[in-house]
Amino acid sequence: MKSNRLANCGNWVLDRLPLANLWNDHMAHYYAPKNFNFWYFFGSLALLVLVNQFLTGILLTMNYKPDAKLAFDSVEYIMREVNWGWLVRYMHSTGASAFFVVVYLHMFRGLLYGSFKHPRELIWIFGMLIFVALMAEAFMGYLLPWGQMSYWGAQVIISLFSAIPVIGDDLSLWIRGDYVVSDATLNRFFAFHVIAIPLALVMLVVLHIMALHEVGSNNPDGVNIKKVKDEHGIPLDGIPFHPYYTVKDIVGVAVFLFFFATVIFYLPEMGGYFLEHANFIPADPLKTPEHIAPLWYFTPFYAILRAIPDKFAGVIGMGGAIVVLFLLPWLDRSPIRSIRYRGGLYKKALLLFVISFIGLGYLGTQPATPTATTFARVFTAIYFGFFLLMPLYTRWEKSKPLPTRVTDQPTLEDRIPVWIATFKEMTVSQPIKTKNGTVILPRRPDLTGIINVTIRLAKKLKASMD
Ligand code: HEM
Repeated sequence: MKSNRLANCGNWVLDRLPLANLWNDHMAHYYAPKNFNFWYFFGSLALLVLVNQFLTGILLTMNYKPDAKLAFDSVEYIMREVNWGWLVRYMHSTGASAFFVVVYLHMFRGLLYGSFKHPRELIWIFGMLIFVALMAEAFMGYLLPWGQMSYWGAQVIISLFSAIPVIGDDLSLWIRGDYVVSDATLNRFFAFHVIAIPLALVMLVVLHIMALHEVGSNNPDGVNIKKVKDEHGIPLDGIPFHPYYTVKDIVGVAVFLFFFATVIFYLPEMGGYFLEHANFIPADPLKTPEHIAPLWYFTPFYAILRAIPDKFAGVIGMGGAIVVLFLLPWLDRSPIRSIRYRGGLYKKALLLFVISFIGLGYLGTQPATPTATTFARVFTAIYFGFFLLMPLYTRWEKSKPLPTRVTDQPTLEDRIPVWIATFKEMTVSQPIKTKNGTVILPRRPDLTGIINVTIRLAKKLKASMD
């Protein structure tokens, strides 16, 4: 009787709201390629982190004071006095870094499997707009604790706008609302951080997923699954997103939460990478910190800015590094999407790009010594070379024949025995007798094993680059 009433109530809503259609279109009857691998976890993880940021952000706002005189102390109050305030704050600050980890890996998947190529250009464009909005959200959020690095980081970045000829000075004054970063800046950044940008982010994520579901997901083979369908019009290589990928994504979520919780509970500052040490000192407009560096996720772009000697050219370089990512769908001229069937040139170019992006990221955290600047210039040249030479090398290279159906590859679970064997090869067991007579078998690194494994991996990498 009771459940009948509940069902009736549910039906009453469903008769008036197209929820069932929405569920079927995007979950139960959305056919995704059956060969999604590890790299396909990061879209749903980005959604999870977005929800985490919203929920913890709302809780933080209940006790945070967007006032230059009160902001720093209100954050300390959250950390020390508010029940579970420390946890909420660490979930939010770690969440910000986790967001960029997840989104960078999500974007890298795009580069691996050519997910930005026809017909998914618009998904990529919405993704890039999300990325820019995310950078603005993180930048404005970082001013809110009103610590030394919040203050001076904002001062440095906003003053970059003054390098723009003619309008530069007025523009940076307009952004700050004052001649220096001040209470007016804090107030407007707060408004943008808690309302304007989150709204834009939600809208962009909805558009991103709508565009994805219109054309269908790509996959690690980059083949179009809609080409081979059964008599009911269902792709033979497709499986319903729900329950198959909802269940699979739960595994990704569990592994992610394990790492996320480890950082929150044991390494919330991550050695100054997630929360900089100088930010535990209240903002002092009269005292510039010795070394101003943005948080790790901005450092590749910051290193490009510093690598270019002229300030305005540096700003153009930094902006150009992001703009060029928008153009990716049109720079890549290869007929093949997935790296599995591309020629060696793209693979080598991508490897060099990854090395230079990580290199720039590291250099952006370090003082700009002459050696560091030389390296930063080389990496900047490689970064832009990867994109600007792409129309040439993707046309020249000889790709491998593309299969008509998705292929069967070993899964992560299949690889576990090989990893265990490799671990055993790289270590030797050394029995130790403890005082009470029991024998334990700890493993120690074995040089010969390590060299053998390294040579084998290098050969494999070389072979896969052809
Ligand atoms: C808040 C941030 C983001 C969220 C929540 C999000 C969410 C998602 C989800 C749920 C998917 C489908 C599942 C998957 O393929 O992993 C997806 C696919 C995709 N996303 Fe994102 N995304 C975000 C940011 C980005 C960014 C920054 C880019 C790139 C600039 C991007 C590019 C793509 C592309 C190209 C696909 C299609 C992939 C394929 O079919 O192979 N996304 N996204």
